[in-house]
Amino acid sequence: MQKDIAEKATSTFAKEVQEGLTSFPKYLSSKYFYDERGDALFQDIMAMPEYYLTNAEFEILETQKEGITAHFSSKKEPFDLFELGAGDGKKTKILLNHLSEKGATFEYLPIDISQNALEQLEKSLLSELPSLRIRPLLGTYFDTLKDIGREKGRKKVILFLGSNIGNLLHPNAISFLRQLKDVMAPNDLLFMGMDQKKKPQTILDAYNDKAGITEAFNKNILKRINTDLGGNFDIDEFIHWEVYDPESGTAKSYLVSKKEQKVHIEALDLLVHFNPWETIHTEISQKYDDDTVRWLAKESGLEIVTSFEDSEKLFKDYLLKRTTV
Ligand code: AVJ
Repeated sequence: MQKDIAEKATSTFAKEVQEGLTSFPKYLSSKYFYDERGDALFQDIMAMPEYYLTNAEFEILETQKEGITAHFSSKKEPFDLFELGAGDGKKTKILLNHLSEKGATFEYLPIDISQNALEQLEKSLLSELPSLRIRPLLGTYFDTLKDIGREKGRKKVILFLGSNIGNLLHPNAISFLRQLKDVMAPNDLLFMGMDQKKKPQTILDAYNDKAGITEAFNKNILKRINTDLGGNFDIDEFIHWEVYDPESGTAKSYLVSKKEQKVHIEALDLLVHFNPWETIHTEISQKYDDDTVRWLAKESGLEIVTSFEDSEKLFKDYLLKRTTV
């Protein structure tokens, strides 16, 4: 089963690399940043002073956990707490701890496509919260939510933290949210972190740190093509470049070829040609405001119940439910 998933992932990776590097302009998907090295680099990013997102959301959860979890269940009503792409659980722990202290009846169901990530998370959570009821779910978000939701029929609260939705352009975010809405019952909740529009320089600094961690993270996708698909990218012949458009709120990451060069990718039997200063677009990190979130929600059949922000107004967590007609 696990090997199956791994093999399928590799062939999807190969297909998408082929597609992206033979398109004009060239692109690669940021979801492929996250192999073992990419996961570690993202951990380092979250610990950087410039990457304000993590601290801001941490502050929201820490200082407003009472008000946040009060929405999750009333009168000890049992519920299921799902989390999409749980990561290391550092932020989630605040809520899990608080819910446990309050004596809430719930099961925690982190969903991830990485078996390794799920195992680490379960181990770390159980060592700190031995009484936690945790059921890690290996798979894709929607299939899992649909199956488990039907099976258990309890109220669902779905966590989607860290502004992970920001990797999706609005039309993709809407179809993602519609699919979530479809697996939500009228009483279910979605608790979603969304990074806010702010002083443009603050955003550029967060995605172009001086130490070069984000650069290494962005370039990791080339490394991964080298190791997984037999590519011969010379990482040093590309630069990391970040732009932010304050009108659309879209931050974009690129890898820019410093010279004319050819890269061979064995597994694809593909020779990729780069003109000098030709780009590969690798990631978008969308920034939001309330009007935009309201619009996204409306387009997706959802509505904002309330929202929670940090003291510096950098980041918001929105609580959403299905639109009632
Ligand atoms: C994990 C998608 C929220 O876009 O801010 C961090 C990934 N990219 N630095 C983000 C990321 C560059 C991050 N997300």
